[in-house]
Amino acid sequence: MVDLIMIRTYEHDIIKRFAENSRVPIINGLTDEYHPCQIMSDIFTYTEYRGSIEGKTVAWIGDSNNMCNTWLQAAEIFNFKVHVSTPPGYDINPERIGLNSTTHYEEFADPRKAVIDADLVTTDVWTSMGFEAEAEQRKNDFAAFCVNTEMMSLAKKDALFMHCLPAHRGEEVSAEVLDGPQSVVWDEAENRLHTQKALMEYLLLGKLDTGS
Ligand code: NVA
Repeated sequence: MVDLIMIRTYEHDIIKRFAENSRVPIINGLTDEYHPCQIMSDIFTYTEYRGSIEGKTVAWIGDSNNMCNTWLQAAEIFNFKVHVSTPPGYDINPERIGLNSTTHYEEFADPRKAVIDADLVTTDVWTSMGFEAEAEQRKNDFAAFCVNTEMMSLAKKDALFMHCLPAHRGEEVSAEVLDGPQSVVWDEAENRLHTQKALMEYLLLGKLDTGS
């Protein structure tokens, strides 16, 4: 009775099983493992501000969560590089997320090293939906991973800051950075609407308007 279904859930396998049994397209609105609609919006936002993301460097600071995984996958598709810095014990799992090579990412133990020369610095909450029981432990483990003014100063001068929101000021990002001149989080949030309209058009009509 519907033409499209968007699902936000926990284990990615739930969406996979649903899609295998569906006659209509299924859109991943977020799973524990991936968040493709958000990354489409983020790359669109980067492009609006700075042009193509190809060849650029994105610094991911914090949890190796759904956002991080999808940034890593996107880097292979759009040919950019991700500098990943996660606390010990929260490392990325390249095999699990199906990365083809190590060409498009580099891991850094020190988040300050990961942001050096980055064109875009981005982070996310330390505790994602479904992991609330770990919140207190994570606050300790991630304490050195706050994107603050000092960290931003190590990135390129014109680096943008992004966050998929909602953010926790003073945890993963300082208020100065979130509300500061390099932050594009409100346009990033608005662009969810526009990129998802494009996705719906593509899935329903098969149209891919590249503008060329
Ligand atoms: N990583 C976050 C994204 C929220 C939009 C979560 O899964 O809760």
